[in-house]
Amino acid sequence: MENSQNDLFDKCKSDGGYFGRFRISGDDYFTQPVLEGLPGPRMKFKGREVIMWAVNNYAGLAGHEKVKEVAVEAAKKYGTYTPMGSRMLTGNTIEHIELEKKLAKFLQKPSSILFNYGYLGVLGTISALIGKDDIVVIDKLSHASMVDAAILASAGRRFRPYRHNDMESLEFHLKSINKDRKGGILIVTEGVFGMRGDLARLDAITELKEKYSARLFIDDAHGFGVMGDNGRGTGEYYGVQDKIDLYFGTFAKAFAAIGGVTAGEKDVIEWIRYNARTNVFAKSLPMIFVKAIEATLEIMEKDPSYRENMWRIAKKLQNGLVELGFDIGDTKSPITPVYVPAGSEDIAMSMIAMLREDYGVFVSGVTYPVVPPGVVLFRMIPTASHTDEDVEQTLKAFKGMRDRLKLDLSEKPSLKNR
Ligand SMILES: Cc1ncc(COP(=O)(O)O)c(C=O)c1O
Repeated sequence: MENSQNDLFDKCKSDGGYFGRFRISGDDYFTQPVLEGLPGPRMKFKGREVIMWAVNNYAGLAGHEKVKEVAVEAAKKYGTYTPMGSRMLTGNTIEHIELEKKLAKFLQKPSSILFNYGYLGVLGTISALIGKDDIVVIDKLSHASMVDAAILASAGRRFRPYRHNDMESLEFHLKSINKDRKGGILIVTEGVFGMRGDLARLDAITELKEKYSARLFIDDAHGFGVMGDNGRGTGEYYGVQDKIDLYFGTFAKAFAAIGGVTAGEKDVIEWIRYNARTNVFAKSLPMIFVKAIEATLEIMEKDPSYRENMWRIAKKLQNGLVELGFDIGDTKSPITPVYVPAGSEDIAMSMIAMLREDYGVFVSGVTYPVVPPGVVLFRMIPTASHTDEDVEQTLKAFKGMRDRLKLDLSEKPSLKNR
């Protein structure tokens, strides 16, 4: 080799990159832990049973007997391969079309389009709509899929991040774009913020989008099937579903499957169908999932008890943690972030290890780049399938861990790290 100094792969031997410290040490405890058992409130980690608080099975529908039956029937009839090809060519079926109609109806929109993964749905939807003169205005704490979509769509040139849920900051950008506006504006935000559990201020955002003639895209991955009286999401919760131009949900969380959906006006959804590269150039959603998602939707529509249980468990866990002095920020959803004192990764690792080893309680730590630098939290996910006993045992564990590690809970790291 003429110049051996600049090998592309050198970085792979360093402790750089995302989670480099964990990668280089061969960690399988804090990152990529190997879990055994089916996703649910009790799983096994390193051979021992743990109470699981890290799986997004909000409605507790993972493993629902009816859904399993439907999926088994679908597997028998269609195998794992049906349909083959992209929707544009050979991957379209009447079942896909019917499911899109049902989802559109559930979401109170005229039309919808399925995607294979939530990530691909966000990427495809946003990038299909943003042209040369259009601008994305995005909440700074939005999920990586939206940030990547904004970068891809605008080639990094013209997207504007606004401060998290800060309406002054959003209005500042809308006003300044409107001074010299050449194209459209798409406001992009999560509905329920997946790490903090707080909600986008959709009442105010929908007003601003009308005032400044912008369009609004909501990624409601964590609100779909969770928020609102019927689980239609954060738009339903605020009573503004009709003002959301594009509503996006993933099936990877409350629906306990895989795939995503974008719902909106018919002509806009058709534009996305023909222009989203993650639809046009990717294989269609497998039939097993189409059928399982359809069955799950039916259960969600008919039986509110799953969501009611989820909220009861969530409130019990959240109130208990606050009573113990833990800072859970301003969550308004089941997502329960427990902020680690001083935003310290080392303290977080001691807390996680003690909870797992001494109390059989499994939580995941979340650190940069998932949350901004300086923030460390446990993102706990109460679900409909947890029991009162799970919560009580967990609160005892947090109390024991707090006292034994002599945690200083007097500061509010959630506010410090806004
Ligand atoms: C807010 C948000 N958007 C999109 C995604 C991606 O969804 P999926 O896992 O279905 O690809 C996630 C998943 O982590 C998410 O939390």
